[in-house]
Amino acid sequence: MKVLVTGGAGFIGSAVVRHLIRDIGAAVVNVDKLTYAATPEAIEDASTSDRYRFEKVDICDAVALARVFGEHQPDRVMHLAAESHVDRSIDGPATFIETNLIGTYTMLEAARAY
Ligand SMILES: NC(=O)c1ccc[n+]([C@@H]2O[C@H](COP(=O)([O-])OP(=O)(O)OC[C@H]3O[C@@H](n4cnc5c(N)ncnc54)[C@H](O)[C@@H]3O)[C@@H](O)[C@H]2O)c1
Repeated sequence: MKVLVTGGAGFIGSAVVRHLIRDIGAAVVNVDKLTYAATPEAIEDASTSDRYRFEKVDICDAVALARVFGEHQPDRVMHLAAESHVDRSIDGPATFIETNLIGTYTMLEAARAY
C-alpha cells in the first residue's frame, strides 16, 4: 500500500509517517511545503527508508499535485497539511484561508481527478 500524506513534516503528520513506515510497512509520499510549523527532524529515521519519498509542494498548487498523483500513484490519501496555530490567524488570516480552504479543496479535486 502506498499512502500520500500531506503535512507529513507536521506534528500529527510526522507521527503518521513514522507509523506507516515503521509499523505498517507501507510506502509513503510526503507532500509538505515545509512552513515554519514543519519539523523534518521528526521523520529523520523514516526518511531513510526506501519506501519513503518527499515532495516539497504547496497543496494550493493544482499542477504540482496532479504531477505528484500521476508520478507516485498512491492507493490512499491522508490530508494533514494545515495552518493549525489558531493564534496566528488573528494577525494573518489569509494563509489560513489559502491552505485550509483552497488547499483542501485543491487536494480533493486532485484526488478525484486521479
Ligand atoms: N495537533 C493536534 O493536537 C491536533 C488535534 C486534532 C486535529 N488536528 C488537525 O490535524 C491537522 C494537522 O495538525 P498538526 O498539529 O500536525 O499541524 P502542524 O502545524 O504541526 O503541521 C502542519 C504541516 O502542514 C504543512 N503545511 C502547511 N501549509 C501547507 C501547504 N499550503 N502545503 C503543504 N504543506 C503545508 C506544514 O509545513 C507542516 O508540516 C490539522 O488539520 C489540525 O487541525 C491536530
